[in-house]
Amino acid sequence: MRLPPHRHRTGVRQRGRRRPRHRPREELFSTTKIQGEIKDHSAALASITEPLNKLGLDYLDLVIIHSPQSWAEFRADSNFDKENLEVWRALEQAQAVGRVRSIGVSNFLKSDLHNILDHGSSPPAVNQVLAHVTNIPTDLIAFAKSHHITTQTYSPIAHGAALNIPELKEIAERYGVTVPQLCIRYTLQLGLIALPKSATNEHIDSNADVEFEISDADMETLNNLPPLEDYGEDGFFPVFDKAAANRKA
Ligand SMILES: NC(=O)c1ccc[n+]([C@@H]2O[C@H](COP(=O)([O-])OP(=O)(O)OC[C@H]3O[C@@H](n4cnc5c(N)ncnc54)[C@H](OP(=O)(O)O)[C@@H]3O)[C@@H](O)[C@H]2O)c1
Repeated sequence: MRLPPHRHRTGVRQRGRRRPRHRPREELFSTTKIQGEIKDHSAALASITEPLNKLGLDYLDLVIIHSPQSWAEFRADSNFDKENLEVWRALEQAQAVGRVRSIGVSNFLKSDLHNILDHGSSPPAVNQVLAHVTNIPTDLIAFAKSHHITTQTYSPIAHGAALNIPELKEIAERYGVTVPQLCIRYTLQLGLIALPKSATNEHIDSNADVEFEISDADMETLNNLPPLEDYGEDGFFPVFDKAAANRKA
């Protein structure tokens, strides 16, 4: 399968008449993932074309491989190095023709990153991993940094479970902020890109308002809180169930 090259660089494509005015394309950052189950070149290219067509965009800003394994085999010993390289080459191809600006990975451990670094033509721009106060995969982040790979953190509020940690409530109160603000600020001070999620406008606004500084002493306290083991009713999802594997990578 071949992707046509990206021709025009500005603006969200306009279809039909009298559409409302859009924000300039440059103000949007579109990210999508290649599902963990997709491990071949043409299916990977198809899963880039589909969101481009659905969203009416000329290019995507970032596309990442969701997981090094299919979810059924997440963190199992099965080796998908060859398949991940095939998908990676599809991403490189899409990037070369301008349909994708940046390419990256998610949930990759050091050995998975090594595979791409050693055999791909270009390194991943980002690795998107589970990282939140009480669960920071320090070695993985340091490894990524040493190869100029930026770490994005998903679930920086521990999928909501951080709201129930008493130590966080106490520290957040001292700073006059909410627990989510403390959690987000903590990951930013670690040099990570935080990807909090909220379906509540008020939360979205306050989560973006994190212009305060956590002291070195409090950062140290936060660094040393015991690992969270209970993600609540969604704890059965592979990414939470296997959270400890990130820290051992
Ligand atoms: N790459 C991967 O494998 C992967 C895996 C999991 C998740 N992700 C992505 O990471 C992002 C975040 O994930 P997440 O939902 O697991 O975790 P999260 O951002 O850590 O937590 C979201 C939860 O926290 C609550 N919340 C957020 N701000 C709040 C506030 N200010 N006050 C009170 N409650 C607040 C939300 O409820 P309200 O909606 O009520 O605010 C929601 O229940 C999502 O975009 C997700 O797609 C990626």
